[in-house]
Amino acid sequence: MPTLEIDGQEITVENGLNVIQAAEQAGIEVPHYCYHPGLSISGNCRMCLVEIEKMPKLQIGCNTRVSDGMVVKTNSERAKQAQAAVLEFILINHPIDCPICDQAGECKLQDYYMLYGAYTSEMGLEAKVHKRKVIDLGPEVVLDEERCILCARCTRFLDEVTKTGELGIFERGDHSRISLFPGKKLDNPYSGNVVDVCPVGALTSKDFRFKSRVWYLEKTPSMCTRCATGCNIDIYHRQGEIYRFRPRQNPEVNEYWMCDEGRNSYKSFQQDSRIPNPLVRGASSFEVASWADAVKKAAHILLQAKEEHGPAAIAAIVGAKATNEEAFLVSRLLKERVGATHIAGLSWSPADAFQDDILIHADKNPNTQGLKSLGLLNGGGEAEAVLSAVENGSVKVLLVFGADLVTTFGRERIDKALGDATVILLDTDYNETTEYADVVLPIGAAPETDGTCTNHAGRVQRLSAAFPPPGEAKVGWEALALLSTQLGGPDSVSISDVFGELTKTVPAFAGLTYGKIGFQGALLAEGSFTPESGETES
Ligand code: SF4
Ligand code: SF4
Ligand code: FES
Repeated sequence: MPTLEIDGQEITVENGLNVIQAAEQAGIEVPHYCYHPGLSISGNCRMCLVEIEKMPKLQIGCNTRVSDGMVVKTNSERAKQAQAAVLEFILINHPIDCPICDQAGECKLQDYYMLYGAYTSEMGLEAKVHKRKVIDLGPEVVLDEERCILCARCTRFLDEVTKTGELGIFERGDHSRISLFPGKKLDNPYSGNVVDVCPVGALTSKDFRFKSRVWYLEKTPSMCTRCATGCNIDIYHRQGEIYRFRPRQNPEVNEYWMCDEGRNSYKSFQQDSRIPNPLVRGASSFEVASWADAVKKAAHILLQAKEEHGPAAIAAIVGAKATNEEAFLVSRLLKERVGATHIAGLSWSPADAFQDDILIHADKNPNTQGLKSLGLLNGGGEAEAVLSAVENGSVKVLLVFGADLVTTFGRERIDKALGDATVILLDTDYNETTEYADVVLPIGAAPETDGTCTNHAGRVQRLSAAFPPPGEAKVGWEALALLSTQLGGPDSVSISDVFGELTKTVPAFAGLTYGKIGFQGALLAEGSFTPESGETES
């Protein structure tokens, strides 16, 4: 553990850190472009030059390991001069089209110029080498060649992480440019990450560009729910609308990356198919109902079935997109309020679902492992068994939480099974199963929900609500709490109360709190979870 001095501050850090990392731990930023903690060291931009005692020349912080007794100055006159000179050099041929550049607000050229540059340029605009603009690289990414500072972060990402190598640096000197190799397109499943790593406005997202200035957006930490990996993300949103998802660093899960499918999945949460109001089936079609009436109706259905046919006539199917808290509440509500015990988890993914050895998991549900820990899923045939019981008439009332049964089991099967059953449905969107419902309670989607999901490796991670659900919809746990209260249960006062009860009831979650989980997640209790064979955390 070397102890060193940086800008007069003494600090002890773990072995193997470079000057940029050590300075960061001391709360000091060493400006840098080409260095990225998830990629190899390139050392090409020279922006991170610092003065180190006993070394005659300035050193690049990214490629200098700290050692005991080292004295580093990041803000000496020599270091400041070098920072300004490097910036001036980088900007010689930059188009300075900042007012129309979509990177404004998160551009390291703009930011560093204000902090470390602020010189008067001797270069006239007309003397610049011009290069191509708005080059289509693939489905996700657009390149502006003349904004590129040739830091090689994008090429290293494609060489080292996806190993697809679509981009290279071509030509020489001030004509050097980033370009696709002949015959290549940038269309691998992780291509959007090159936009995140690009420190300037050279690589921009086709989807996000010109939609909003970043300073208008709020950022909420959460997780992607598109597959069982549960990559950590930030939700960028404004006034109830999501503009983009970006990966949030978690060394135990996704490092710095996410896949394009997950990145684009924000669109699925704001489609016209969202259910805005509670619905109750009238004589021939759905009628919009108040929450009070819809919940009363659902409770009446459950109590009547219990009275007429006994608790075994009531069952539930919970989809693996439900949070741990929601699944726990469905289970507790039916067991404690009406005595029902047929509560099945359902985790469905297409048979040909894609998986790779980077991040993408074939299980396209965020919480299959959570449902297993809650005892709702075991071999996988639980929902099938419940459906058979509905089909043979022994189950009369089915509560479905966040599961499209038609997609999973096919229309013919569901027609046969649900034709005579009474169905209470809680879901975010209209789907083919909605038409079988007698009462529909609209609930919040993942970006509108606080709670936790457990990823394929047994890591419990938090979802956070970026904004409330649309229309009259309510967050899932609130809808369940209303139904529970209508059935004579206690009021659940908060989501952390629900999680507290869950951790006391389900051994796999013992000892966990939202505080312990934080925004990096925490593993299920030791011994409660065995990863699938050969599986480790990504
Ligand atoms: S396009 Fe961006 S990430 Fe790639 S070399 Fe240029 S500045 Fe760096
Ligand atoms: S790998 Fe899975 S969890 Fe990660 S971003 Fe892609 S879909 Fe989302
Ligand atoms: S960040 Fe050190 S040389 Fe580029």
